[in-house]
Amino acid sequence: MERNPIIKAALGSAFGLALMVVAAGAVSAQGDRTVKPLAVPVPTELPPGELGKIVALGRDIVNNTNTHPLSRQYVGNSLTCTSCHLDGGTNPKALSFLGAASVYPTYTPREKQVITLEDRNLNCFMRSMNGVRPANGSEVSVAIAAYITWLSEGYPVKMSLKGPFGPNSQPSLKIDPATADVEHGKALYASTCASCHGSDGAGVGKFPPVWGSKSYNGGAGLAQNLKLATYLKNAMPLGNPNLSNKDALDIAAYVNAQPRPKFVLEEHLGKNK
Ligand code: HEC
Ligand code: HEC
Repeated sequence: MERNPIIKAALGSAFGLALMVVAAGAVSAQGDRTVKPLAVPVPTELPPGELGKIVALGRDIVNNTNTHPLSRQYVGNSLTCTSCHLDGGTNPKALSFLGAASVYPTYTPREKQVITLEDRNLNCFMRSMNGVRPANGSEVSVAIAAYITWLSEGYPVKMSLKGPFGPNSQPSLKIDPATADVEHGKALYASTCASCHGSDGAGVGKFPPVWGSKSYNGGAGLAQNLKLATYLKNAMPLGNPNLSNKDALDIAAYVNAQPRPKFVLEEHLGKNK
């Protein structure tokens, strides 16, 4: 796992100033790569006692969502939370959970309501995992929320006016999705991605599918080209993300033009109907 520099300034009361420092840090040698330095170190020690046990359970579920006995029945594809939230959500480059708990409850325009951290996790079950929502307050839901809250220790609680986006969420690439070239994306996918994810998108061995019946559904965040492009820019190819903005967008448009499960809300609500 990667260690990032700690910005001491963000620990003080000058949170606004810290945000400016963080924004300045986003301009790196890679040009407009949208990765920010971390404001608070990643925790390493679990809390003692029962709480620590639940946090560890949540970590286990996040890393093994499609096989863990408490969560697998809610998963409808071959993914785990960590397939996208890399390194169990501790990798600041790829949909990190670090600090995420500090912005909830928050209003989300997608659901047009104020949601809790639990709700946000459960929404990823029905969209990104193409499954059904476990019940709010169930053991699986509480454990994941406990894990993400542990990963948010040290971040100041700060209500978010722009939706469910934690302090380390990545700003969208500045590129017009309408400029995507799917044919170019197809060629790049074959040369850059197919070795791990398969030329048919179905995944190879431990490498997860990126389209087809075992992939995320059409209601998932990554099903939007700009969100997928931003993710690819920061996270793929795994271990060596190096795509230009335009190449990231072209590949995203190609991947999302392939078949995947449709999203019909009523089929994914589970006991929350
Ligand atoms: C297919 C990829 C994918 C998988 C699998 C996935 N997520 Fe996500 N998740 C996303 C994306 C993309 C976003 C950001 C959505 C956006 O920008 O609107 C997100 C956002 C979140 C957030 C909000 C973070 C914040 O900053 O507030 C939480 C919490 C979350 N996911 C939890 C989970 C949990 C728990 C699981 C497993 C049950 C999971 N996700 C599985 C793609 C995924
Ligand atoms: C070296 C192998 C490798 C390469 C090359 C690679 N990936 Fe990945 N990718 C992975 C692995 C492994 C994961 C899951 C991470 C985990 O489980 O820790 C992943 C996760 C993903 C995800 C989120 C999970 C899912 O399956 O939906 C997407 C989307 C994705 N990769 C797309 C791409 C695209 C597009 C490219 C080409 C630009 C690419 N990857 C190149 C190995 C790779």
